[in-house]
Amino acid sequence: MKPIAFTLNGVAKTVTTDEARNLLWVLRDDFGMTGTKFGCGASFCGACTVLVDGKEVRSCMTPMRNVAGKKVVTVEGLAQGDTLSPVQEAFVEHVGYQCGYCTSGMVIGATALLAANPRPTREQIAQGMERHLCRCAAHLRIVDAIEAAATKMAGGKK
Ligand code: FES
Ligand code: FES
Repeated sequence: MKPIAFTLNGVAKTVTTDEARNLLWVLRDDFGMTGTKFGCGASFCGACTVLVDGKEVRSCMTPMRNVAGKKVVTVEGLAQGDTLSPVQEAFVEHVGYQCGYCTSGMVIGATALLAANPRPTREQIAQGMERHLCRCAAHLRIVDAIEAAATKMAGGKK
């Protein structure tokens, strides 16, 4: 057990835990951030995706030792008060979900994708999101949502 300090959605946190424990369980069990989901537990599905220093990371396979001193953002940290992020808003408008289980990972993945490439083609969106699985097969609407978010973030220009 060791105290590990990091920033969670802009707030400094310290957790005393096993350094090998994965970030997903610290988020869910220690901080009640249950927006981040457990799917495969093996880095395949993307349900557990969060941002660490702006990069998308699979929290199910990220030991706390790798999080020390870093900035973690979960789906709970994307909205500003009651105002959804452009990606969240576009997922709602385009119904980029069905059961919603993959959605927080998808939204985080899309946020990282648009930070790296603000005007992706549909093909680049599909490629960039291919490691995020949706068992409800909402992929087409998810691509629509990400495309719409990119347009929205560019001030509405197609
Ligand atoms: S639960 Fe982490 S990738 Fe599936
Ligand atoms: S909306 Fe159900 S898994 Fe994607």
